[in-house]
Amino acid sequence: MARFFSSPVVCALALGAWWTACTPEEPPFAVDDVRPVPAHFPTYIEPEDNPMNEAKWELGRHLFFDERLGADGALSCASCHVPEMAFADSSRVSLGTGGIQGVRNAPALVNGAWQPRFHREGGVPSLEAQVLAPIQDPMEFDRDLVALVEELSQDEQYQSWSECGFGRGFDAYVMTRSLAAFQRTLISGGSRYDAWLQGNASALNAAELRGLDVFESLECNSCHSGVLLSDFETHNTGLYANYDDVGAYRLTFDSSDIGAFQTPTLRNVALTSPYMFDGSLPALEDVVDHYVSGGTGHPNQDERVRPRTVTDQDKADLVAFLHTLSDEEFVVWATDLRP
Ligand code: HEC
Ligand code: HEC
Repeated sequence: MARFFSSPVVCALALGAWWTACTPEEPPFAVDDVRPVPAHFPTYIEPEDNPMNEAKWELGRHLFFDERLGADGALSCASCHVPEMAFADSSRVSLGTGGIQGVRNAPALVNGAWQPRFHREGGVPSLEAQVLAPIQDPMEFDRDLVALVEELSQDEQYQSWSECGFGRGFDAYVMTRSLAAFQRTLISGGSRYDAWLQGNASALNAAELRGLDVFESLECNSCHSGVLLSDFETHNTGLYANYDDVGAYRLTFDSSDIGAFQTPTLRNVALTSPYMFDGSLPALEDVVDHYVSGGTGHPNQDERVRPRTVTDQDKADLVAFLHTLSDEEFVVWATDLRP
């Protein structure tokens, strides 16, 4: 527990003296107390209506791992967003309460603090709003929100964190805000690629550096762009000639959005197999083959996905580069979050 906090005062609070955290002398508690923002990242902006505090973060952390959220008492957010896998899931599509099959692959949850919109088609505007989706989805928790909140509000520890973190009793507002605040601290920026970005020239070996060149020459970096490795826009990558899951069209009813999905970050991508919105590609090699073969030629396919002449060595180097995006320290930290 103590490893999450830098100051001894905060540690004492973490050990149970929750009410003292509500006094005016409470030491300021910020994201840096949990997970320092890497120096080469964009500025961390906290939503004005959901500032971080320690009780809120603890409540969010416990809720994230709480299996009482599932209708059968055996499913938590972490069942589908597994810390060991950078909060993604090894199932092709996620399995909800009672093992019922969903329709999409659970995305990794990293650096959500900088993500402007959520879900595969990008239709959810904030982490706060996102929480309601899995709770009521029959393919996920399948719960009545009012009944779930009523059940969880019987938990005395949750009530005490709620009073302390929000100055009110446990309710749906508290649940969504605390889960969002917790998820904003899932910050991953400690991969070898990050070390290289920060000026450590020997952090990547020769094959990985060649792979970075391939990543740029194939224009991968125009969509998986910047330090977050996503433009957060939706694109059709030509995975199918006919999409059963129409992607962003569900939101816009614009036919040019059929099959368009939000660019996922590639951070920790070697840990998050299988790939794509439906988990249809099992390995990174399969994803690379998809891109270089040029896709299915769907009418909405982005022009940057087109047949490419590459050698087997180029493909191997590209995959080697993708492996440098794994942040081992993050995964160890994430695994320790389990209460
Ligand atoms: C049954 C599996 C399952 C459970 C349980 C689940 N999720 Fe998810 N989660 C998914 C899937 C699948 C998606 C993709 C949804 C989509 O695109 O329509 C997703 C998407 C998300 C996203 C958006 C990520 C992004 O990059 O767009 C967030 C955030 C998230 N879940 C958080 C949570 C939280 C918090 C909980 C617990 C309250 C939770 N999830 C429970 C499967 C699950
Ligand atoms: C036109 C924008 C664009 C380009 C160019 C592009 N990608 Fe993607 N990438 C996406 C989108 C959008 C998805 C999600 C597609 C889906 O879910 O079906 C994706 C998915 C992926 C995934 C799966 C990630 C996951 O978590 O499921 C990997 C890996 C990947 N791309 C790597 C690459 C590589 C390597 C290249 C260059 C050869 C590349 N991408 C070029 C937009 C792009």
